[in-house]
Amino acid sequence: TILYGVFGDPIRHSRSPIMLNRAFQEAGINAVYAAFHVRPEELGDAVRGIRALGYRGINVTIPHKVEVMQYLDEIDEGARIVGAVNTIVNESGKLIGYNTDGIGYVRSLKEETGIELKGKSVLLLGAGGAARGVAYALAKEGARRIYIANRTKERALELADTISSYTEAIGLGMDELGHVVDEVQFVLNTTSAGMHPHVDEVPLPLEFLRSHHLVSDLIYNPRITRFLHEAEARGARIHGGLGMFIYQGAFAFEYWTGAPAPVAAMRQVVEQSLA
Ligand code: ATR
Repeated sequence: TILYGVFGDPIRHSRSPIMLNRAFQEAGINAVYAAFHVRPEELGDAVRGIRALGYRGINVTIPHKVEVMQYLDEIDEGARIVGAVNTIVNESGKLIGYNTDGIGYVRSLKEETGIELKGKSVLLLGAGGAARGVAYALAKEGARRIYIANRTKERALELADTISSYTEAIGLGMDELGHVVDEVQFVLNTTSAGMHPHVDEVPLPLEFLRSHHLVSDLIYNPRITRFLHEAEARGARIHGGLGMFIYQGAFAFEYWTGAPAPVAAMRQVVEQSLA
């Protein structure tokens, strides 16, 4: 039996065990994926446990994605630039860190909307950890210009500076959006505004939504945020956050096993668990 798991704090609401165990079963791989409640002060011991116990792969979730990096032997380039790891591969005792969140998001966006990012202008709302991963992946995918707007403008400027090595990136305060909403084709929320239980919050004044926008939200609880409902009511196309969760897990599965992830079965079991 091949061993896998996820480290987080809290961890009991994680859908990863249900999703990855279903994936292994569907692929005919004899493996078990468990959830581990790892407190911050125990993270180093937990990572050494991966080697000691012979775990092949571990996902890392909140609040450990940044701190875990110091305990690994090697960090993939994308994860290094993003500054966070969500997937560890144990190569015969050598622990390698990857980040599949950003590429998972982009794969979900492409599969579920068909959007071609090459040449597009994007408005990305937020500048936290989730924004970093997604902004890097969008830049790598060929987005021509990325406006990054954040409540705390300073963080938007810092992230724009990082991303400007890969594409044109411009940091903005929330009072500077009027100039860009007509230009952009794609608006993406990476902030926690609208996440359960703050379901009435929206990350952008609604008057800035346009019918020509594709509007996307990383939040998947609720499945369709108020922001997406309001965008749809104004004629925009919408894209929710559940696919990002599924595809970040699908990439982890592929890194660990080398086999294509059974995405349909993974999605089915996650949707069932949320219903
Ligand atoms: P994550 O890793 O989930 O991105 P984070 O690093 O704490 O979490 O970042 C949270 C992001 O959501 C930030 O961009 C934050 O804005 P600030 O940098 O100004 O704090 C944003 N955010 C959180 N709550 C928000 C709200 N109610 N309205 C607007 N932005 C919010």
